[in-house]
Amino acid sequence: MEFAVRKRLLRPVSLFSVSFLTMVFVVLYSLQGNYKKRMIFPVSQHKRASRSVWHNVTAADFIRNMTRKRFLTCRHFLPYSYPATKSSEFRTEKQCTRRSPVGHYRTCAIVGNGGILLSSGCGMKIDSNEFVIRVAHSPIESFEKDVGQKVNLTVVNDVFLGKLQKKGIDPNWLRSRNNSIISYVLNHNNNLKTLNDVVRKSHLNITITNSKYPTRALVRKFWNDTRKTFLEVPTAGLITYTLASTFCDVITLYGFYPFGQDWNNRTLLYHYYQSGLAKIFFDKNKLHDYPSEHKILKSLHNLKALKMVTDVCT
Ligand SMILES: *[C@@H]1O[C@H](CO)[C@@H](O)[C@H](O)[C@H]1NC(C)=O
Ligand SMILES: *[C@@H]1O[C@H](CO)[C@@H](O)[C@H](O)[C@H]1NC(C)=O
Ligand SMILES: *[C@@H]1O[C@H](CO)[C@@H](O)[C@H](O)[C@H]1NC(C)=O
Ligand SMILES: *[C@@H]1O[C@H](CO)[C@@H](O)[C@H](O)[C@H]1NC(C)=O
Ligand SMILES: *[C@@H]1O[C@H](CO)[C@@H](O)[C@H](O)[C@H]1NC(C)=O
Ligand SMILES: *[C@@H]1O[C@H](CO)[C@@H](O)[C@H](O)[C@H]1NC(C)=O
Ligand SMILES: *[C@@H]1O[C@H](CO)[C@@H](O)[C@H](O)[C@H]1NC(C)=O
Repeated sequence: MEFAVRKRLLRPVSLFSVSFLTMVFVVLYSLQGNYKKRMIFPVSQHKRASRSVWHNVTAADFIRNMTRKRFLTCRHFLPYSYPATKSSEFRTEKQCTRRSPVGHYRTCAIVGNGGILLSSGCGMKIDSNEFVIRVAHSPIESFEKDVGQKVNLTVVNDVFLGKLQKKGIDPNWLRSRNNSIISYVLNHNNNLKTLNDVVRKSHLNITITNSKYPTRALVRKFWNDTRKTFLEVPTAGLITYTLASTFCDVITLYGFYPFGQDWNNRTLLYHYYQSGLAKIFFDKNKLHDYPSEHKILKSLHNLKALKMVTDVCT
């Protein structure tokens, strides 16, 4: 554990010295007039360096140290079983960690549903992350260019489970989640059993997890205590970020933008896959405090503890 942390802290130093040496070479070569970009700056290295330009390891570690004091990853991602069996219990932290399908990842994308993603062309950037987390309904099919196609974990909410109970589930959607994890990160919903039955019958390789702890209340308390922001009902998006900060080193958020227009005055849809206008929905929403949540995430973005993408990807 300690070794891993130390290794991580050392990384920026080596990256720094690599870029410093590169700079020296660039200057020397260009002085000689035979500067060749590819020779001294291999593409792969350039990619790594450019990814870390925005990321501040210290700031991200600081957040992680805080969230880890209150959230143990495995406790919020335990394999679901019905009826609850002895095997879903655990005595030690080690046992808990061994049971959870969620590990630790270097780079994670959290893909929200915001209309800001439409025509973003961010698909490839999203898929370049080691671990891709998607929130709620989010279809992938026919939106690949903007939202990517990789999916490792989907965090479903009460709305999703309610719809499933009433209308069933789209088999194409479920198939798109083959070889991944579907998580309900709150601790109780009767409809989870329905989801579990459907997945069992589908013969797809999908692991369902839920939490043994009152995650929403813990998230509410966390941001109230650390940012003095009281959120009566934190969104699935913010809950997902809060939990992901315990198991991802570098986090990029996509589709998190609760406004009617983007910075370029483009009118946005509420969801990238629906025709309703964002403004109408956000104006009438009384359940979630989107502006305050956005303020929190924006301040973490400014500290470079995370990156919130609200523009097209080039
Ligand atoms: C990284 O974040 C830490 C803590 O917020 C800050 O002290 C430091 O100056 C930042 N480093 C850079 C290069 O921005
Ligand atoms: C985070 O915690 C680790 C381990 O306790 C510590 O070494 C590190 O300095 C902390 N980092 C920050 C930025 O607080
Ligand atoms: C994430 O999912 C993709 C398929 O969508 C898979 O190829 C990859 O191995 C998964 N990564 C992890 C870390 O599980
Ligand atoms: C689901 O993934 C497995 C590989 O783990 C594959 O054998 C199977 O054909 C896939 N099912 C569907 C319906 O795509
Ligand atoms: C089932 O999916 C998990 C990811 O959730 C993957 O690690 C595992 O290899 C898959 N199993 C099979 C048999 O494909
Ligand atoms: C939120 O924090 C304030 C202090 O900043 C405290 O008085 C209040 O009880 C907290 N509320 C909850 C629900 O934790
Ligand atoms: C967006 O609209 C505002 C107010 O109507 C205007 O002041 C601003 O210049 C516009 N921005 C762009 C990029 O068109």
